Amino acid sequence: MILVTGGAGFIGANFVLDWLARHDEPVLNLDKLTYAGNLETLASLRGDARHVFVQGDIGDGALVGRLLAEHRPRAVINFAAESHVDRSIHGAEDFIQTNIVGTFRLLEAVRAHWSDLPEADKAAFRFLHVSTDEVYGSLAPDEPAFTESHRTEPNSPYSASKAASDHLVRAWHHTHGLPVLTTNCSNNYGPFHFPEKLIPLMIVNALAGKALPVYGDGMQVRDWLYVKDHCSAIRRVLEAGRVGEIYNVGGWNEKPNIEIVHTICALLDELRPRADGASYTTQITHVKDRPGHDRRYAIDARKLEAELGWKPAETFETGIRKTVQWYLDHPDWVAHVQSGAYRQWVQTQYGAPATA
Ligand code: NAD
Ligand code: DAU
Repeated sequence: MILVTGGAGFIGANFVLDWLARHDEPVLNLDKLTYAGNLETLASLRGDARHVFVQGDIGDGALVGRLLAEHRPRAVINFAAESHVDRSIHGAEDFIQTNIVGTFRLLEAVRAHWSDLPEADKAAFRFLHVSTDEVYGSLAPDEPAFTESHRTEPNSPYSASKAASDHLVRAWHHTHGLPVLTTNCSNNYGPFHFPEKLIPLMIVNALAGKALPVYGDGMQVRDWLYVKDHCSAIRRVLEAGRVGEIYNVGGWNEKPNIEIVHTICALLDELRPRADGASYTTQITHVKDRPGHDRRYAIDARKLEAELGWKPAETFETGIRKTVQWYLDHPDWVAHVQSGAYRQWVQTQYGAPATA
């Protein structure tokens, strides 16, 4: 069995679904079910004995200790985090609690369990920490992409909390010998992405006839990877990564935000044309920029390719078409995650929800 934390969120749930589509090895899924965690994403696993779901906090050392003793997983994959930069700007407390204190408590519970394992199990055990390219800071237009040895220069409360968690993971390996692996991935997109993030927000707002809020000039660059390619990278690192190493994960898909929004509008114009015949681009609105907005991220994923032979399967063109189609096919999932709490967030971040 493996223990996945945060497996009801966007990437964690995609990972659990893909894992169980490929293996019969069971998954113990520990998730606090914050606003970002949604059991409906895992509905296809209802009644499947290979998936054991537990609602709980990675910061609850006693609970994690009990789960480890009872289920004896051979690996822990830590997806659980507060993940949205804009929320970390409005209030960083939850980010510090989960991403830093939570990771610390999880590491301690795992270390206590791992220390008592028989030697062979101890050697085979892995703690894989899922992190982000944002820990490396922001790149100038002509700078080379982030390698694993790039300095850690986080700029937002979110990225600072993730960088802190990465350092804790590193220290638990160097000091205590815990067999850890860390992955630092670029921006993901795909099915089950919570519509507070750029790509799903633009799709959902476009279909609802609302404004498409582009921060500042829209020329900030992100490096996009289809979520299932991130999941395949994590499986590969878990299987063959060298203990103590960091692996950057990315798809060599750098694009300015405004181009992403135009691509989404063009796909929707084709797949679900507006009743009035106008393009969805007429809904694009430039709004106030994000404070401290990182200008550019780009991942150099050559280590992962050279050492472990990993490559993404999707291009941006194939992945974004699948993603837009997925949102068109799943209006119920979208409607259910847009609960009262979601509406409150939209009000806080964007003011009164504008219509185009
Ligand atoms: P998400 O916000 O969609 O999901 C996070 C999940 O963690 C939710 O299900 C939530 O309920 C759970 N959770 C939060 N606090 C918890 C706690 N204290 N205990 C247990 N569960 C808790 O996030 P995501 O986009 O799926 O990101 C997953 C991981 O991948 C995060 O660590 C994030 O930093 C990292 N990451 C994300 C991206 C991206 O583009 N989304 C890219 C690189 C790395
Ligand atoms: O790089 C990896 C990171 O990618 C992950 O670690 C984070 O968890 C994940 O949320 C994501 O962070 P970003 O800040 O890059 O993603 P977001 O979707 O919030 O924003 C993408 C870009 O789009 C960013 O430059 C801000 C911009 N944006 C975002 C929103 C929500 C807008 O222009 N308008 C918006 O309404």
